[in-house]
Amino acid sequence: MLQSRITITAMLLLSAIAITISSPTAEAKSKMQKQAFGKTPDGEPVDLYILGNKNGVEAAITNYGGTVVSLKVPDRQGKFDDVVLGYDKMEDYAAGKSYFGAIIGRYGNRIAHGKFSIGKSTYTLAKNNGENTLHGGNVGFNKRVWTAKDVSNAAGAALELTYLSKDGEEGFPGNQNALKIDYSATTDKETVVNLTSHSYFNLAGQGSGDVLQHHLLLHADRFTPVDAGLIPTGELRKVQGTPFDFSKPTAIGARIDQDEEQIKLGMGYDHNFVLTRGSAKGALALAAVVHEPKSGRVLEVWTTEPGVQFYTGNFLDGTGTGKGGKPYARRTAFCLETQHFPDSPNHPAFPSPLLKPGAHYHTTTVYKFSAEK
Ligand code: GLA
Repeated sequence: MLQSRITITAMLLLSAIAITISSPTAEAKSKMQKQAFGKTPDGEPVDLYILGNKNGVEAAITNYGGTVVSLKVPDRQGKFDDVVLGYDKMEDYAAGKSYFGAIIGRYGNRIAHGKFSIGKSTYTLAKNNGENTLHGGNVGFNKRVWTAKDVSNAAGAALELTYLSKDGEEGFPGNQNALKIDYSATTDKETVVNLTSHSYFNLAGQGSGDVLQHHLLLHADRFTPVDAGLIPTGELRKVQGTPFDFSKPTAIGARIDQDEEQIKLGMGYDHNFVLTRGSAKGALALAAVVHEPKSGRVLEVWTTEPGVQFYTGNFLDGTGTGKGGKPYARRTAFCLETQHFPDSPNHPAFPSPLLKPGAHYHTTTVYKFSAEK
């Protein structure tokens, strides 16, 4: 019997705002706190790790699904708000179906008909999204307990999360308010892998209304149109002249209800964009900039990945309550899920998500926050 393994290490690093005169390492270490977060449905205890930097920026991450539970960043007046959607209680994360803040794997987004082949072997996956597989199947990496380790260093407070998935199952300086996620994976049997993070952002503060007035700039000149099951058709379509053109900062809501086939299929935006990387293939490049006019908060997304799923929370329906008892209505957040393209295992022309034994999967995504004056 062959046993295959995939080890994922996501390093969640919140950089220190400045190199301090005193020992920066000691400073970073003192900013990692651990507290009990609750128990999984199987009774396994999970923890919450609170990473802070000198600026007062704080990220709370649980080893349940590698989930970013809260992320507090300042606005232009220096007022802190939590800018990600989520729940107050562990039980709600276990029951939740929206992937709030979670690490997604083994394969982010959809694989058509829950099927793909590697060489002569065909694999059949759990179908959890109509006919298709979404975000790793019924129990994706978002519902697994990861092993956590404090790996804070001179750059800031850092948490390493590791998860073993069995067979069948920068150059950035340290003085920024940034959440950096380093993903790595190895395998002992050829497989496909596509890891991402599923934070739902609202830069005006979680639970504060819709995100239609947020402005988005996307460094993407093409996107991957989808069919009714949100599976890419294989076409790489130019964004120019369509509601998918965010090459200049544009309000998210400006064209979200336009009478256009792809907008209708996604019920808004739920599409993979092909990032324009210039010559920087595989290097960290700026993918998106989101700006919220009232608070002045700005989010930059940097990634080594070829694509990003821009999703406007079209499936949120206000049922159930989020953090602080806030209802999360439709389009009250946006996600920028850096990734390989959906259903790549069935599209040989897309960048390959194949991982071979002996090879190392390594991708990096940085969510960088600032506030304009
Ligand atoms: C991704 C998908 C969406 C939706 C969300 C989770 O963004 O593309 O269709 O499934 O995850 O609700």
